[in-house]
Amino acid sequence: MDRPLVIDGTAVGIERRPEPGPGAEHPDTRWRRRFEAGRGRHSGIRAVDVTDLGDLGGRRRALGRSLATFQLGESGTGEHLFGAAVSAGVSDDHLSALRSFVAEEQEHARLLALVLDGLHVACRVQHWTDRVFVLIRRSRTLRSEVLTLLVAEVIALSYYGALRDGVAHPALRDVFARIHADEVGHVDFHAETLPPYLRRFGRVGQRLVRVLWNTLVAGAAVVVALDHGGALAAAGVDRRQFIRSVHRDRRDLERRLFGDASADRVRRRAGRLNSRSRRAPAR
Ligand SMILES: [Fe+2]
Ligand SMILES: [Fe+2]
Repeated sequence: MDRPLVIDGTAVGIERRPEPGPGAEHPDTRWRRRFEAGRGRHSGIRAVDVTDLGDLGGRRRALGRSLATFQLGESGTGEHLFGAAVSAGVSDDHLSALRSFVAEEQEHARLLALVLDGLHVACRVQHWTDRVFVLIRRSRTLRSEVLTLLVAEVIALSYYGALRDGVAHPALRDVFARIHADEVGHVDFHAETLPPYLRRFGRVGQRLVRVLWNTLVAGAAVVVALDHGGALAAAGVDRRQFIRSVHRDRRDLERRLFGDASADRVRRRAGRLNSRSRRAPAR
């Protein structure tokens, strides 16, 4: 378990989770089993009845358009992700967990397609944000694939959370609650399994990637707030609230992926002081 890191009596952050000891279940295995245990839990939903949804204060169309964009984003095949995972040398359990993760995203796409059907809104076949994501993922490493996915995952937490809490319709709320709960699990999965691969960047590379990833999430939050403002307003959330919510989740996930920057600084400073004191001549 993570625990507070205390240096000179001051809590400076969270200590990184140690590698599992002998006998402990490896995270890859735990996640493979967890995904398997949850398989098929949404399969009973074959239609979403929204006949009594109403006009949502004139924002019903905006909600439909917004959901169509998210539906497209959820419907990837994972083909490049799996290829990158194999190239990175992941374990069989990790690869299996990644396949289950993509299957869950496709299940979200199916649920959202049912909602769109109820709203009489056509599914999208392309959107410019999807093309941007494809460009960013061009390097096709597990790290770039998952970090790019995590931009969307962090956005999804605030988006589906807002719709779950703000759209007063039981069937829709149920769908958004299911998707949101899965997205929380997805973020936990990647936060636990990606860091060993991020460490392959080296210290300077990690700092650079960290800044880039933060910038991407911050930019994406603004784009989504602008592009999906009508849907968010239907849930009673304004653009600033949405951006603040993404910002909070981003900071939390950043620490889990890259470690606590302030704690790392203190640790490095302590290391420098130690090595200086070791070099100092004895009096
Ligand atoms: Fe999803
Ligand atoms: Fe997800």
